[in-house]
Amino acid sequence: MEKKKIAVFLSGRGSNFKAIFDAVGGGRVNGYIDVVISDNPDAKGLSFARSHGIGCAVFEKSRTESRTEYFDTIIDFLDGRQIDLIVLAGFMKVLSGTIIEKYRHRILNIHPALLPSFPGVHAQRQALDYGVKYSGCTVHFVDEGVDTGPIVLQETVSVREDDTEGTLSDRILEQEHKIFPRAVQLFCDERLKVKGRRVLIRNP
Ligand code: GRF
Repeated sequence: MEKKKIAVFLSGRGSNFKAIFDAVGGGRVNGYIDVVISDNPDAKGLSFARSHGIGCAVFEKSRTESRTEYFDTIIDFLDGRQIDLIVLAGFMKVLSGTIIEKYRHRILNIHPALLPSFPGVHAQRQALDYGVKYSGCTVHFVDEGVDTGPIVLQETVSVREDDTEGTLSDRILEQEHKIFPRAVQLFCDERLKVKGRRVLIRNP
């Protein structure tokens, strides 16, 4: 099986990207990070990528261009590189329908809650405000909705009575760093099969 070519999209600190980078470096993933793409030239994750010899491309969205146009430029770039998998690791832009369609079941996202609870922004705060006893994180394929795509992996985290948004986010992040590389590994081993809303994990 050929190694999968991965493009990581990020907008910020990139701790999930680092976790995936480590898993790739550790030989656990049948793939490699071909490029890191960002909409934010100041993203910390970009500095990490550059200092570790990974190519980076920054696509800043101009005010005049539409979301479709913005992502069409990125699609052209990805096409030129024959990317197999897109990993959204804290990428803050909503994708266009065109890129979602083109990379159907080939875009993975991590969300800091147990979906379908608390989609969208400030998921950890939403969980605290609601008063749930357990939250966690979810890796899912991206579809046209907000955090609605087929679920690949989830991990739970208990909510403590003295939790703040920060402490809960930190404990959830620890679990993100485990399940996101694991999901990338499963994808690259071609062990994920999407059947309707369900993602089946095949035995190796
Ligand atoms: C994480 O909380 C992830 O769940 C969310 O964005 C954050 C990205 O963090 N989608 P990092 O940039 O990977 O550190």
